[in-house]
Amino acid sequence: MDFVQLEKARYSLRKFSSRPVEQEKLNLVLEAARCAPTAHNNQPQRVFVLKSAEAIEKADACAACHFNPPLMLVVAYEAEKAWVRDAFDNKNHGEIDAAIAVAQMMLQAAELGLGTTYVGMFAPQALLERFPEMAGCTPIALLPIGYPGEGAHPARLHENRKPMEEIVTVL
Ligand SMILES: Cc1cc2nc3c(=O)[nH]c(=O)nc-3n(C[C@H](O)[C@H](O)[C@H](O)COP(=O)(O)O)c2cc1C
Repeated sequence: MDFVQLEKARYSLRKFSSRPVEQEKLNLVLEAARCAPTAHNNQPQRVFVLKSAEAIEKADACAACHFNPPLMLVVAYEAEKAWVRDAFDNKNHGEIDAAIAVAQMMLQAAELGLGTTYVGMFAPQALLERFPEMAGCTPIALLPIGYPGEGAHPARLHENRKPMEEIVTVL
């Protein structure tokens, strides 16, 4: 699949098969997070791999949407490791870095025939209370991941793209 095909093939998958994700494929997805660009190359991104049904259920209880995936990633950043330059450059680089890692993982997953959905609607504090292993991290996204369930298809919103002129301004 070339890159143009890949960016068209990816869509938010919300209906998962129970087929497990092979460890080799998971490793490639995690590698995409590890290699993602980060501000000053500080690499504050952290990925928690939830494999057990118990861990997935615990995370699911903190989210507004429930997709029953066979595997779930929690993507976070370690605030202490995130690049902070000065008051002028006051962006949250940790959050940006982690979000770029999610984007790379979603595309890598799609290339492997796997589906994902970036889930931003969850309560980070509740997640931190349930998972002491995440102490010191700020979770930014849940990423359910797995093979498409029977009849899975892109949601209507997937096709709804703004015209190029609305996105791009040439000066
Ligand atoms: C920052 C962010 C947060 C999102 N949060 C959710 C969410 O909580 N639940 C959900 O079902 N989809 C969520 N999405 C997925 C978007 O709804 C989806 O990407 C958008 O509708 C375009 O559809 P597509 O991914 O199929 O192309 C989120 C996407 C992004 C980038």
